[in-house]
Amino acid sequence: MRTQVAIIGAGPAGLVLSQLLDGQGIESVVLECRSQEAIRATIRAGVLEQGTVDLLTDMGLGKRMHNEGLRHEGTVLRVGGVDRRIDFVGLTGGRAVMVYAQHEVLKDLLDARLATGGDLRFNVSDVTLSGITSDMASRPVVRFRDASGAAVSLRADFVVGCDGTQGVSRSAVDPQALQTVERHYPFGWLGILCKAPPSSDELIYALGADGFALVSTRSCEVQRMYLQCDPGDTPDDWSDDRIWATLRARLATHDGWQPNEGPIFDKTVVGMRSRVIEPMRHGRLFLAGDAAHVVPPTGAKGLNLAISDARLLARALTRFYRDGNEDLLDTYGPTALRRIWRAQRFSTWMTTLLHRFPDADAYARKLQDADLDYLTRSRAACTTLAENYVGLPVAPPWD
Ligand code: FAD
Ligand code: DHB
Repeated sequence: MRTQVAIIGAGPAGLVLSQLLDGQGIESVVLECRSQEAIRATIRAGVLEQGTVDLLTDMGLGKRMHNEGLRHEGTVLRVGGVDRRIDFVGLTGGRAVMVYAQHEVLKDLLDARLATGGDLRFNVSDVTLSGITSDMASRPVVRFRDASGAAVSLRADFVVGCDGTQGVSRSAVDPQALQTVERHYPFGWLGILCKAPPSSDELIYALGADGFALVSTRSCEVQRMYLQCDPGDTPDDWSDDRIWATLRARLATHDGWQPNEGPIFDKTVVGMRSRVIEPMRHGRLFLAGDAAHVVPPTGAKGLNLAISDARLLARALTRFYRDGNEDLLDTYGPTALRRIWRAQRFSTWMTTLLHRFPDADAYARKLQDADLDYLTRSRAACTTLAENYVGLPVAPPWD
């Protein structure tokens, strides 16, 4: 079997890439180890940057997103019970974010790929890569077992590893050729979904006496909320009563604001870390999305970065197939990394600003207070937060 681009992983990076390539008449095969049903049901991110919304709209995937997603024109920082609204639209010249769940984006992408006859292989196993450094005369090969267990060889011009943090594509690269920089945080997030109407029209990022809490939403009947927890916690450590008591305490305001409560039907613990693996190209293998970089979720950047990698790579592959020119393939990694490191900086800053660090000394706590105070007094500080949160414009030097 052969194709032009073999894509490993049917997450946001893999599916956006495959769909963009299809729009340019470039063939791809997507290999995914999970079932289609599992992909459609996995609860993860929720915030789409303005540039992500614009891209999905331009790709013809905006119908459900614009009907069911919620446009948020600002957000609230609640520190010690006092609110400070960050006006995205006013501070960024009209840009905003869309709250629309990642699995809804994936459903739209899967439906679009399948409607146009996209070659997506679910439930594959034992994926291995060889020949990634080969020249065009002898192309790389991806071997895998299909859903029935049969061994398959797929020869491709290029392989793109969109297989997330636990993927296999990186293992095809000589470890000496990979530079990994990372940081772990001394806490995690417990995420819940509950059946209750939104507590607020906008997201609330709160820092209470004993930690962080976040009020987000999914629809007029379902709320998404997160709270800072110990990194080793499991959902079983958090009874519903303990969750509501913690959220009430961290979100309390001086005028008695309370979150809307309702039956909790999903609980997960999310690890917090930052990681970048460079370079993002190894011969005929490219890495994209979480396979190459991870951010802590506080800035809501991971999904958006995965999609912007896919967009850059689609453009580079299109140039190659149209003109035989590898320039954009050569600059894919360095260009993507400028945006990735900006997002790392922002996500780390948001995380440091809004969490209680168990090992923080008095000096670190005073710095945190000074940063929070600056945000309540300076329009420039709020503009920096707003323009990073809604996503930097897709224009040089970011694109
Ligand atoms: P993934 O979504 O991880 O997709 C990789 C795919 O590859 C998976 O389907 C996997 O099954 C498949 N795969 C793995 N190994 C193999 C293999 N060996 N063979 C074949 N297939 C394989 N980001 C935001 O932008 N905004 C947010 O609000 C936000 N909130 C988040 C909240 C939570 C609770 C979590 C967990 C994450 C959040 N993120 C957020 C991050 C975001 O979900 C990820 O960054 C995003 O999913 C990355 O997309 P990806 O396509 O790179 O990887
Ligand atoms: C959501 C997730 C985030 O990481 C974030 O910063 C804001 C909202 C969400 O899932 O709704």
